[in-house]
Amino acid sequence: MADNFRMLFIWLFLLLSYLRNSTSLDSLLPGQSIRDGETLVSEEETFEVGFFSPGTSTGRYLGIWYRNVSPLIVVWVANRETPLQNKSGVLKLDERGVLVILNGTNSTIWWSYNTSSKVIKNPIAQLLDSGNIVVRNEHDINEDNFLWQSFDYPCDKLLPGMKIGWNLVTGLDRTISSWKKEDDPAKGEYSLKLDPKGFPQLFGYKGNAIRFRVGSWNGQALVGYPIRPLTEYVHELVFNEKEVYYEYKTLDRSIFFIVTLNSSGIGNVLLWTNQTRGIQVFSLWSDLCENYAMCGANSICSMDGNSQTCDCIKGYVPKFPEQWNVSKWYNGCVPRTTPDCRNSNTDGFLRYTDLKLPDTSSSWFNTTINLEECKKYCLKNCSCKAYANLDIRNGGSGCLLWFDDLIDMRKFSIGGQDIYFRIQASSVLDHVPVNGHGKNKRMIGITVGANILGLTACVCIIMILKKLGVARIIYRNHFKRKLRKEGIDLSTFDFPIIARATENFATSNKLGEGGFGPVYKGRLKDGQEFAVKRLSKKSGQGLEEFENEVVLIAKLQHRNLVKLIGCCIEGNERMLIYEYMPNKSLDCFIFDETRRHLVDWHIRFNIICGIARGVLYLHQDSRLRIIHRDLKTSNILLDANMDPKISDFGLARTFCGDQVGANTNKVAGTYGYMPPEYATRGHFSMKSDVFSYGVIVLEIVSGKRNREFSDPTHSLNLLGHAWRLWTEERALELLDGVLRERFIASEVIRCIQVGLLCVQQTPEDRPDMSPVVLMLNGEKLLPNPKVPGFYTEGDVHLNQSKLKNPFSSNQISITMLEAR
Ligand SMILES: *[C@@H]1O[C@H](CO)[C@@H](O)[C@H](O)[C@H]1NC(C)=O
Ligand SMILES: *[C@@H]1O[C@H](CO)[C@@H](O)[C@H](O)[C@H]1NC(C)=O
Ligand SMILES: *[C@@H]1O[C@H](CO)[C@@H](O)[C@H](O)[C@H]1NC(C)=O
Ligand SMILES: *[C@@H]1O[C@H](CO)[C@@H](O)[C@H](O)[C@H]1NC(C)=O
Ligand SMILES: *[C@@H]1O[C@H](CO)[C@@H](O)[C@H](O)[C@H]1NC(C)=O
Ligand SMILES: *[C@@H]1O[C@H](CO)[C@@H](O)[C@H](O)[C@H]1NC(C)=O
Ligand SMILES: *[C@@H]1O[C@H](CO)[C@@H](O)[C@H](O)[C@H]1NC(C)=O
Ligand SMILES: *[C@@H]1O[C@H](CO)[C@@H](O)[C@H](O)[C@H]1NC(C)=O
Ligand SMILES: *[C@@H]1O[C@H](CO)[C@@H](O)[C@H](O)[C@H]1NC(C)=O
Repeated sequence: MADNFRMLFIWLFLLLSYLRNSTSLDSLLPGQSIRDGETLVSEEETFEVGFFSPGTSTGRYLGIWYRNVSPLIVVWVANRETPLQNKSGVLKLDERGVLVILNGTNSTIWWSYNTSSKVIKNPIAQLLDSGNIVVRNEHDINEDNFLWQSFDYPCDKLLPGMKIGWNLVTGLDRTISSWKKEDDPAKGEYSLKLDPKGFPQLFGYKGNAIRFRVGSWNGQALVGYPIRPLTEYVHELVFNEKEVYYEYKTLDRSIFFIVTLNSSGIGNVLLWTNQTRGIQVFSLWSDLCENYAMCGANSICSMDGNSQTCDCIKGYVPKFPEQWNVSKWYNGCVPRTTPDCRNSNTDGFLRYTDLKLPDTSSSWFNTTINLEECKKYCLKNCSCKAYANLDIRNGGSGCLLWFDDLIDMRKFSIGGQDIYFRIQASSVLDHVPVNGHGKNKRMIGITVGANILGLTACVCIIMILKKLGVARIIYRNHFKRKLRKEGIDLSTFDFPIIARATENFATSNKLGEGGFGPVYKGRLKDGQEFAVKRLSKKSGQGLEEFENEVVLIAKLQHRNLVKLIGCCIEGNERMLIYEYMPNKSLDCFIFDETRRHLVDWHIRFNIICGIARGVLYLHQDSRLRIIHRDLKTSNILLDANMDPKISDFGLARTFCGDQVGANTNKVAGTYGYMPPEYATRGHFSMKSDVFSYGVIVLEIVSGKRNREFSDPTHSLNLLGHAWRLWTEERALELLDGVLRERFIASEVIRCIQVGLLCVQQTPEDRPDMSPVVLMLNGEKLLPNPKVPGFYTEGDVHLNQSKLKNPFSSNQISITMLEAR
């Protein structure tokens, strides 16, 4: 009896081991093989290798795919050019350690390699958890000694840990190549390659023609994609005598992040976590400016909404102006005057910011010299056109020089790099500052339209100065010296000039009443317009303190902050002079019955992102940590392009002290935008601004004021209403009715989710601004919001248990796109 049991047991055991072996092995020894239907699985069961048929194809291919991910993501194909006709194929490791695929009549239709110079001793084939199938000597796990690895022969996908680029010793060039069609893995016409010429860069090709330029490495990112797609990953370009390659790694192994070049030649990032079944797809092709050399030589591509424009670098003019006039840009720009090498050492340089650096295929570089020396190198050689830092980390280091035409530059709205273009002294209009001898080290990026106002003001000031008393001159010189010492480019205006420009602060010129005083529109004699904030006299602040604060505010410079162009101090009068924003403030648009139609979803999304960048700058990127404390739609001004600019920043600090987080007895700010902890206990921190930002986002999306909103059926405020719709998975209903025709659902949902995250009840639950910016760009996974801080006037705590959270903890928390 016992014997029988034992026999049965052994028999079962053998059957089980047979079954296991027949369906999935973890490695192949010489002579062993897997048939169609069987697979080889990696140790942690992340990947498996086996035969498959893509899409509607009937051909059988040997491929590697993610084991538990659906739809199937095939990351590598062996016999991409030679499919098997039926399921009679076999993958085998032969006695020489070569992986082969045999067809039904034992003909080899694919092999990993023929000959190897390496010593072969007990070879085994194994699928690693990185998705790499390798052949190695059994006791040698050193990567450098692998006999063969699939990572050396990429197909259309770049996986973490995979190298793209050159082994300069063996001449091996690893490139990514697209599939021919969605269901045909054969090599297509698109590829992604690393070009080691000049300063190494990654290019996307169609056949042999460059289609797009991912670009060179600046120590932090590839210049074509300056934003890190995820905080949970690191990447780098390695460059030494033996190798030049790019690779990336994910730090969190539960996050999957792969780059793929699809059959239409578009680079996409696929992203998912081990908890989600859906896959997010991000296209690396954002707009027309991605096209290589779209604007021709010496010209910068930029996107204005959905349309693209090209602008010559200062000192250059379109080569064929009549073509340029009809948006044919490909012939680019040429120097305004022919270079004169005899006088070239008097040339200057003009700094441009936030650019994609031009093509570096024929650039000279040096990793050790600094920017100042770099400039000298460039100045020395008449054919040097531009210079930039090689590595932008830690304030910048290294030197990169260009000697030919500058090709394929674009303007980024975020990220990007500084570059200094050579400007011939003779070619420059007189009002463009030229930095000839390096005395004036600080050079503000020249944006379109030089600050003529500032210059006019200077002239006026000089004229007035002549008429005024000596004391005033002495004072002004003192303040100017202070500004100069701080390296600040700020005009000091005289009271009579401001008074005349505003028609004596006429009510008809009043633009609004800010937190710290009224704002007037002013117009100088030459027609230049500006906005002047006449600070209320109650602050009781000393002159010295005020001067210090002006210096501070002037140092805050960002595209999404209103630019301070000057100030006026006279007796008790303190005034700040800002650039004039013709489109007034955001609330004049989104809450206005007729004008709300003018701000479509695209513009609103741009505004939401712009405000986030501005606040991020105040909180983090400026050298000072500034809490705005009064963010609201009426403090968001819009320029002629409808780009948002935050106003009234820095004043809270000036007038209320400068702690990072503190308690205050006097609650300043605006009801409807205040977080609960501020409104009830007077505690403020950066997270208070985050809350106000969240309210603004929800207001922009819905076109309704938080404070005035009331939902007839539930008596909830806007935040409560948004939360309710969110929990009922009807979030899109929050969208402003006038936008219903055209919007991008994934962006709307993302904004609502970010908005809700920002208005969480407790400050700790609210994200900082930097994740907010990443989340908005779809570059960071979004956590699930909890119930928001429901503060409404007079009703501080709504009964939160009424709304229970329908999302269980394992609910998918990101907006998902189906994998295509
Ligand atoms: C595959 O095709 C060959 C000849 O075309 C045939 O002999 C063989 O039986 C087929 N095998 C399978 C598994 O269909
Ligand atoms: C196997 O491949 C050989 C050579 O390519 C071919 O002649 C033969 O017909 C194939 N057999 C099957 C069953 O496909
Ligand atoms: C192919 O090889 C296997 C093993 O070596 C053998 O059993 C089989 O008969 C061969 N098939 C053909 C058609 O030669
Ligand atoms: C070696 O590889 C080449 C192509 O790479 C092929 O033409 C040749 O037949 C192979 N030789 C052997 C013995 O497999
Ligand atoms: C996801 O991965 C993390 C870390 O590897 C692990 O702790 C967690 O259990 C995984 N979750 C699932 C659902 O597999
Ligand atoms: C390639 O990716 C782009 C962007 O994600 C997409 O629009 C396009 O349809 C894809 N092409 C194919 C053939 O899948
Ligand atoms: C291009 O257009 C501008 C105004 O739009 C005009 O002044 C200029 O003459 C045009 N140039 C050519 C070459 O057509
Ligand atoms: C870089 O510049 C430094 C200083 O001029 C020089 O010593 C070094 O040799 C240069 N390196 C290269 C690679 O040219
Ligand atoms: C300037 O640089 C170019 C490109 O590196 C070089 O060919 C040329 O000889 C240099 N000229 C001088 C005067 O150094």
